[in-house]
Amino acid sequence: MPYYRRVGEVPAKRHTQFRQPDGSLYAEELMGQEGFSSDSSLLYHRHAPTAIVAAQEYDPPAWSRLPNRPLKPRHLRTHKLDSRGADAVLGRQHLLANDDVRISYVVADQISPLYRNAVGDECLYVESGRATIRSAFGPLDVSAGDYAIIPTSVIYQVAPEGDEPVRLLVIEATGHIGPPKRYLSVRGQFLEHSPYCERDLRGPTEPLPTDGTDVEVYVQHRSRADRSGVTWTRHVYAHHPFDVVGWDGHLYPWAFSIHDFEPITGRVHQPPPVHQTFRGPNFVICSFVPRKVDYHPMAIPVPYNHHNVDSDEMLFYTGGNYEARRGSGIEQGSISLHPSGFTHGPQPGAAERAIGVDYFDELAVMVDTFRPLDLCEPALSCEDTGYAWTWARRAPAEPSDVDPATG
Ligand SMILES: [Fe+2]
Repeated sequence: MPYYRRVGEVPAKRHTQFRQPDGSLYAEELMGQEGFSSDSSLLYHRHAPTAIVAAQEYDPPAWSRLPNRPLKPRHLRTHKLDSRGADAVLGRQHLLANDDVRISYVVADQISPLYRNAVGDECLYVESGRATIRSAFGPLDVSAGDYAIIPTSVIYQVAPEGDEPVRLLVIEATGHIGPPKRYLSVRGQFLEHSPYCERDLRGPTEPLPTDGTDVEVYVQHRSRADRSGVTWTRHVYAHHPFDVVGWDGHLYPWAFSIHDFEPITGRVHQPPPVHQTFRGPNFVICSFVPRKVDYHPMAIPVPYNHHNVDSDEMLFYTGGNYEARRGSGIEQGSISLHPSGFTHGPQPGAAERAIGVDYFDELAVMVDTFRPLDLCEPALSCEDTGYAWTWARRAPAEPSDVDPATG
């Protein structure tokens, strides 16, 4: 993250003696990116963060990945997925993936195991419910509308809070996720034209020193053992990894609410980059929020038909209503995938209906990927197979391509 944070106790000078009440040294750990050349934090543990007592291979649920073939726009109804008794790590149901990013959905009502993603940063978007994200950096509370960014290799755990499960859209990167560079000064401060700034971001405010022995941590890491280049190992740590009394630096889990994203509007329709919230390797994340819409006297507030030829576009509908999509079957929790090679746009009649409208109550998270997204098995299990024909309002003759519900 672009700014410095200090939590709990740290010594006045880095890399110097810092002693516990019994006189022994705290164990200092530097967690940093890009080989000591980018953001980092220094953490102070009661015990050595290196002490593992066991390591076992672990096979997570294996979902096959199928290409989007024949090429079609897709509509996934995530609320149709069966997800009882899941936790936010091992219960993820993979939906869409390429070699840069993987998008999953989970309804978590169980506390997750401790988990480390050594492949890349994760972005957890909270559709509904509340949770505490626990890590060595301290607790971070999240609720509906929050994005939580977990830096690569931070060991964390998701504990649902309250009576309802927490519904998460999970975006796993193969590198680092951060704000768009065009919104940052050369020193990393948010600029005046950014739709959000430092005051909108939240980080841990106090440490969560936790005692424990023989603590399991599930690690997702790079490997050539698997075709995807990713595999898992289960480590057992001699002492609890959250045994931290203080830390400081620029690297830590943080949260940002979509409700704090200030929309950029105009007299005529603004293109999706005005909604960009984060960037990652070969993808972007955008927020569509309730907003005043296009106010030119002749404006058509819904999007024009468009074909972003270098991207696959995934849109997760997470609140409000979607005037441009009326008639498509899109509902709360829906995901649309509009792939490169296909021109998409509003449903028939939406442009006419939108004329004169001055406000859209919509909430959606978009992920645009620069390489095609494959479909994972759970996506096929909740697909509305009639979606591709909703613009034409006419399905093909072949029975196998006709959705029984709409065709
Ligand atoms: Fe689009």
